[in-house]
Amino acid sequence: MDKYDKIVDLAKRRGFFWPSSEIYGGVAGFLDFGPMGTLLKRNVERRWREAFIHRHHGLVYEVETPVVMPSRVFEASGHVDHFTDVVVECLSCHKRFRADHVILEQAGDIQGIEGMTTEQLDATIKEKGVRCSECGGKLGKVTTFNLLFRTSIGPYSENVAYMRPEAAQGMFVNFKNIYTTMRERLPMGLAQIGKVLRNEISPRQGPIRLREFTIMEIEFFFDPESPNCELLGEVGDKKLRLLTEDLVAAGKTDPKEVTVEEAVKKKMILSEWQAYFMALSTDFVSGLGAPHDSQMFVAKLASERAHYSAQTFDQVVKLDRWGWVEVSGHAYRTAYDVSRHQQFSAQDLSVFKKFEKPQKEKALVARPKVSVISAECKSDTGRVLAAIKGSGAKGLMELLRSGSTVINGVTVRPGYVEFIEEEQTIAGRRFVPHVAEPSFGADRLTYLAMECAYTEKEKRIVLRLPRSVAPVQVSVFPLVNKDGIRENALEIQNLIRADGFLSDFDDAGSIGRRYARSDEIGAPLAITVDYQTLQDGTVTVRDRDTWEQSRISVKDLTGYLREYYRR
Ligand code: GLY
Repeated sequence: MDKYDKIVDLAKRRGFFWPSSEIYGGVAGFLDFGPMGTLLKRNVERRWREAFIHRHHGLVYEVETPVVMPSRVFEASGHVDHFTDVVVECLSCHKRFRADHVILEQAGDIQGIEGMTTEQLDATIKEKGVRCSECGGKLGKVTTFNLLFRTSIGPYSENVAYMRPEAAQGMFVNFKNIYTTMRERLPMGLAQIGKVLRNEISPRQGPIRLREFTIMEIEFFFDPESPNCELLGEVGDKKLRLLTEDLVAAGKTDPKEVTVEEAVKKKMILSEWQAYFMALSTDFVSGLGAPHDSQMFVAKLASERAHYSAQTFDQVVKLDRWGWVEVSGHAYRTAYDVSRHQQFSAQDLSVFKKFEKPQKEKALVARPKVSVISAECKSDTGRVLAAIKGSGAKGLMELLRSGSTVINGVTVRPGYVEFIEEEQTIAGRRFVPHVAEPSFGADRLTYLAMECAYTEKEKRIVLRLPRSVAPVQVSVFPLVNKDGIRENALEIQNLIRADGFLSDFDDAGSIGRRYARSDEIGAPLAITVDYQTLQDGTVTVRDRDTWEQSRISVKDLTGYLREYYRR
């Protein structure tokens, strides 16, 4: 049994997690969290909320948007066209695999496989003699498979919608609205914690690769002409372990350790805000128990990056069975998403920044040719004029370069507009903000916390979870269930609960077994009420990690707990 198997066994036995719909045989890629797992996961989310949102209140705001969004959103975001993986089918047993994964499993590491075309993958399968991992049969041609879960809204099958594969789009489509509501200030971050769905081809890594999971994501909007991060000084000295794009391209696997300041100065990280969030992410993941030297940031090569990204680093952590696993992604999404939504919705999503003094400038203007439009478009003339007026001249010129375009349901032909340069007095500048995005997988991080905490002591399991994420803070045991000791223990638990601590009452079995159960769920402290409590009002407080016990007066107990949990 490796560590992963041991954790999966513990997770099931103690109510952390297990495969979803298990009584019907389970479904790969879906996980159920039990009472302990849910508490642990919520604590991971709370820590993230504290580190990334609450600490930045006034700069970063949390929002909540739906899982289901109309197809137009994902046509604009590029997911309908680009959110694909490569799939290959066995010609004998017809099982389907993710092509790059089946190659890696059988042929070992292959540089740049993530960015290979289907033809390159076909050639690699042939060259390496890769066969079906189930039956050894011949594999067919590699094709692409879109990972979006498709649905429809209401009783209209033509009303196509998708389950969001990232929380990001809910924030991009709301950017302008929230920017206006929150006093039109940049930079501004929007954050969201919520479920996302990705129809993975053949997920086989338990909590590491899920089809439905919780994402914790920030879209941080800033002016590309004022890209500096005013908080960078707070983290400038912190060390980042970076496997930069040139190292990845050279096939290196050892990261460079550099300070955040150096990484920015040497343009290893293009956006200062991205560098800032990468520093926070390192601390956040360390706080969940992963040592600094078991973490690094790996750059994605251009061929491997998502369609929206100018630079991406994956924060990866070394896990016992799975090796280096991504726990967060840091993408510099530039103006891509907001610009696309502007184009597809024909709404003005740009922001306006006033100059200190008005400036004279030549500006490109789109002048509609009203007589041509009215002759051709008849009753649609008004809509065409509105479409032209609602589009930025520059963007419209780009669109029309390759011929006619459809805006808000009407066709605009190049012959409908003339573009002229006019000298204008300009009061300010309109632009679409750039975006740095840190994005975390909450389920993986929950598993990571468990793996980092997993230890064995004298053949017993002790889950040494950090105090701030442990599902239960204090276990309470009556030594025996007679002579008023149980009642006394319940009263003490009430006292602890009234102070806001989460406690678990256990009066079943020997005290040794109760300590063992408490260690397995990672409760940092266990309190035992015994005969001495009745005499002198003290209880035994036992430490999960050292197993040392001390006696503390009941009247000092909540103060002790507050100090222990620093509240
Ligand atoms: N929004 C980050 C991702 O889709 O992975």
